[in-house]
Amino acid sequence: MCGIVGYNGYKPAVSILTEGLSHLEYRGYDSAGVALIHEGKLAVHKAAGKLSALEAKLDTALHLQTGTTGIGHTRWATHGLPEERNAHPHLSQDGKIAIVHNGIIENFQELKTELLAKGHHFISDTDTEVLAHLIEEEISSSSSICDGFAKALRRAHGAYAVVMLTSDRPDVLYAGRMSAPLLLGIGQNENFVASDVPAFLAHTRDVIFLEDYEIACIEKDAWKIFSLDGLSPLEKKVHHITWDMQSASKDGFPHFMIKEILEQPRVIKDCLAGRIIATPDRRQVTLNELNRLAFPSRLRIVGCGTSYHAGLWGQHLIEKLSGIPTAVEIASEFRYRDPLLCPDELVLAVSQSGETADTLAALRLAKTKGCQVIGLCNVVGSSIAREADIVLYTQAGPEISVASTKAMCSQMTLLSLLALFLGQEKNPSVYDDPFLEALIALPDQLSAALPEMQEYSARLAKRYSAAHNFYYLGRGQCYPLALEGALKLKEISYIHAEGYPAGEMKHGPIALIDHNFPTFALAMNDILFPKVESNIQEVLARQGQVIALVQNNNSMRPDLPVDDLWVLPSCHPVVSSFFALTAMQLFSYHVADYLGKDIDQPRNLAKSVTVE
Ligand code: F6R
Repeated sequence: MCGIVGYNGYKPAVSILTEGLSHLEYRGYDSAGVALIHEGKLAVHKAAGKLSALEAKLDTALHLQTGTTGIGHTRWATHGLPEERNAHPHLSQDGKIAIVHNGIIENFQELKTELLAKGHHFISDTDTEVLAHLIEEEISSSSSICDGFAKALRRAHGAYAVVMLTSDRPDVLYAGRMSAPLLLGIGQNENFVASDVPAFLAHTRDVIFLEDYEIACIEKDAWKIFSLDGLSPLEKKVHHITWDMQSASKDGFPHFMIKEILEQPRVIKDCLAGRIIATPDRRQVTLNELNRLAFPSRLRIVGCGTSYHAGLWGQHLIEKLSGIPTAVEIASEFRYRDPLLCPDELVLAVSQSGETADTLAALRLAKTKGCQVIGLCNVVGSSIAREADIVLYTQAGPEISVASTKAMCSQMTLLSLLALFLGQEKNPSVYDDPFLEALIALPDQLSAALPEMQEYSARLAKRYSAAHNFYYLGRGQCYPLALEGALKLKEISYIHAEGYPAGEMKHGPIALIDHNFPTFALAMNDILFPKVESNIQEVLARQGQVIALVQNNNSMRPDLPVDDLWVLPSCHPVVSSFFALTAMQLFSYHVADYLGKDIDQPRNLAKSVTVE
């Protein structure tokens, strides 16, 4: 949540900052702002709304082009309305310090009271402005700017990343991290600092990940990193990023979301690559990362949102194939309920970004209880990837659309491999079922089906886009998919949608059904198909409209006059989930597109939820 960027080099900073912010807008887009050094003083420009509003303002302020050091911010509002007054950068009382901040200062109210008593005045409602004033106070009584900056950060509780620019040392950027991502980009005679790699990838691929309790002083041709506590200098490894901007661009598609949905066959292939070996008898899964894993007695999966849904989907498969009792929990609940965990329980933290605050906190809690933790992440070098004992990368490539699509597909692929891997340890018959072969065939099969699915979903979307409510029903492994289908529809089209286990409808939710309340029923060809048919029957009997998602090797009972029968290719029952997932993603995409919604940047959302 919130994207921050800083530049210290020899080129005009304003264009580098706005370009960087354009790659961070997925983290929030309630307002944007930049601060630069101009004629020895700080020049701050901000605007409410998206980055384009700031860019329009900057066009008329050409004098800014001269500054070669600056900081920028794109906001996801936490404290204070998304207005210009609350936009970052925020200034200290004397106007000599500007900061950009991602995260929440939990004790800001207490600090504000203290500062008010000392005569400080605040313009905004934000916790960030309080931090700017606190830094000013601490610097005034410290031996150096760096020392004062560190003292202020030590007093700020919560999760944050912050970058500071001061007119007293215009040649240095100061940065600090506490549980929110922050990385340095190391260039030639220019250095960068940002919340995520795409902000500076066009300029450098060499990256240093800051850890919690670390601060950095960044000059254009040098950088130093210190521990927050004792200000002792730290050695840091420079990582080289191998992916390029091409994979973070729209590639001619109107939205990142559709590009990412259509990439899924490639994503599955990449996720399988190198993880399947041929033995004389058969092909089997190899997960080298897990070679030193002790076979767990139980498994706990934690995640949020779409990643939680992927975990729920994986639970079925892992229990079935490996016999390991598996529980799945929403990370924000898990972290606060003092969960009972045995030390030989394995915890799997599922997160696309690897930065979700609640999932990271759940991981840390599991570690304090002595559990081994696997991070199932997409973003290389992210906090969860670094803090987990073992990391399994999903290989989906950068996911830019705020609504997650290909990440879930890759998580399901990796969870399938994990289920087989854990299964093969104990259960030699795990490969009697042709699931792995079906998984290997999936990319080509899905790729071949996509054009027709695209066309059908666009037609269907037009027909249902006037609905105000939707149920998504599924059973067994299709239940988590129903949750995900509903989440996708509501987050990008703003149509209210709920996912339910189909068998639960009669316990209350069916009361809402009438001819204006459509139901999307997942009737895949598995053992629960007849049960889902009965649930569809119950909806139809209440004049509900039904879209039934079926496969061409299962025929719906003739007495079920569903409104739309969407027929997907026949395949292995588990693999059919990937088709169902894609179908629902496409449906949501086309509904939102038809309604003219802001698909890649839906209102009130941000890609990486680094606050709780
Ligand atoms: C929904 C969505 C969110 C994320 C959730 C967890 O489309 O994107 O629900 O899935 O915020 O994010 P990660 O996977 O980065 O931990």
